[in-house]
Amino acid sequence: MMKRKGIILAGGNGKRLYPSTISVSKQLMPVYDKPMIYYPLSVLMKAGIHEIMIITTPHDQAAFQHLLGDGRKWGIEITWAVQPSPDGLAQALIIAEDFLDGSLCALILGDNLFFGSEFDNALNAANHNPVGATVFGYHVNNPEAYGVAEIDHNRKVIAIEEKPEKPKSNYAITGLYLYDGHAPKYAKTITPSKRGELEITTLNQIYLDRGELNCALLGEGTSWLDTGTHKSLLQAAEFVHLMEYRQGRRICCPEVIAYQQKWISKDELLKLAEPLRKSGYGEYLYKIAHSVS
Ligand code: DAU
Repeated sequence: MMKRKGIILAGGNGKRLYPSTISVSKQLMPVYDKPMIYYPLSVLMKAGIHEIMIITTPHDQAAFQHLLGDGRKWGIEITWAVQPSPDGLAQALIIAEDFLDGSLCALILGDNLFFGSEFDNALNAANHNPVGATVFGYHVNNPEAYGVAEIDHNRKVIAIEEKPEKPKSNYAITGLYLYDGHAPKYAKTITPSKRGELEITTLNQIYLDRGELNCALLGEGTSWLDTGTHKSLLQAAEFVHLMEYRQGRRICCPEVIAYQQKWISKDELLKLAEPLRKSGYGEYLYKIAHSVS
């Protein structure tokens, strides 16, 4: 099977979180016990994707690099790129064109948090499908805030609308998109929307028109949270806290996933744990390194 590369789009101005995000990128803010970008990064790593481009604003790049470096410490390969201004999600594919070099890709937004074994399975299945595009639908209370899928009685998507006033379903299209090798080429044909952005919904509509859009509907076995506002950021932090406190397991730790994927050795995991011991995060990595399974 052709290899799939990953893109994390972590730009934007985070205006809905001002003043917190005036001097710090939103995707570097903590969601309970780790920086936000760890969550989408974990999704890609869990899917076995280890060649990853991270797109940031020009002024935030250094801080991201300080945190993640070239990724080698976690057995991945990070390529850095900038988006000069937030001109839309579909621009990520144009920025990443050379990096992708015709390969399949998974684009994930730096502020989206996914959790659950149902989600892992759905992503795994989609990951093995080299044809067209796959998006993931999730039932929400406020679909008008998202891209929304119109679904027929066979649960097939017949249209997608960006932030419709009258949503045709409660299924929001989440911020994770799998594409075949044609995505950069199609993205280049998109013209800016009324809000001045190259819309990801327009790119997905191109695949839909070609009969090549697959929409996986996620059910109760998945949690999908976004972190765009103060309230949703707090809710995401509370969710992570609750899950971790209840289960005694931390979720979405890239170090743990790297270890489980056998991209790093036990010694390397222990070395990563050392400087993090005081926060409890490192203690957890120690526990994982010394556990049997
Ligand atoms: O979260 C999923 C939703 O993301 C989808 O349902 C929508 O179809 C899609 O358009 C998008 O919705 P928003 O318009 O609310 O996304 P927002 O402008 O908040 O941007 C999402 C993230 O991507 C955010 O962390 C900032 C970053 N971003 C955004 C733009 C427009 C960039 O890095 N570059 C950009 O050009």
